[in-house]
Amino acid sequence: DLLLLPSRDQGVCFVGTREAVVQAGRVVRRVHGRDVLVLHHQGALYALDLHCYHSGGPLQEGDIEEFGGRLCIVCPWHKYKITLAEGEGLYQAVNPLVKPLRPVWCSKGVKQRVHQVTEVNGDIFIRLDDSAGAVESDHYQTEEYRAKLVQGSSDHQAGVCVDGWVGV
Ligand code: FES
Repeated sequence: DLLLLPSRDQGVCFVGTREAVVQAGRVVRRVHGRDVLVLHHQGALYALDLHCYHSGGPLQEGDIEEFGGRLCIVCPWHKYKITLAEGEGLYQAVNPLVKPLRPVWCSKGVKQRVHQVTEVNGDIFIRLDDSAGAVESDHYQTEEYRAKLVQGSSDHQAGVCVDGWVGV
């Protein structure tokens, strides 16, 4: 088991005990300067960028619903649907050639950066996704945007990972 423990080199961040995360349901952490939402839903854990790719909306306040058989978080600002597991933006489309007309859910591709969640001996860690190439949600992970949030909203709940830092 010891060999599986996240190490300093792996650059992971402690989120909390599984019990605490499950009880909270949603936890916000700032990890290496990035605001991340960790979610527990129906027994599974997910981590994704906190600010919605569309216009920076607060995903920590979004409902979780299924669309086209895929679990999504629904941004409270303009109701964009984002798959929890992949960060794909979903939209509805109708094929005019198929009668009767029936809207189906389609993917715009990955729009929200999702991060890896690991559980080790009852503790939850996240590791930031560092895959190359920009993802639209990157746009809102800046000090400039955070300053706007602080100015515009007193109830922004970004947390700061202090005690749990590993690999800083
Ligand atoms: S900011 Fe999320 S849908 Fe517009």
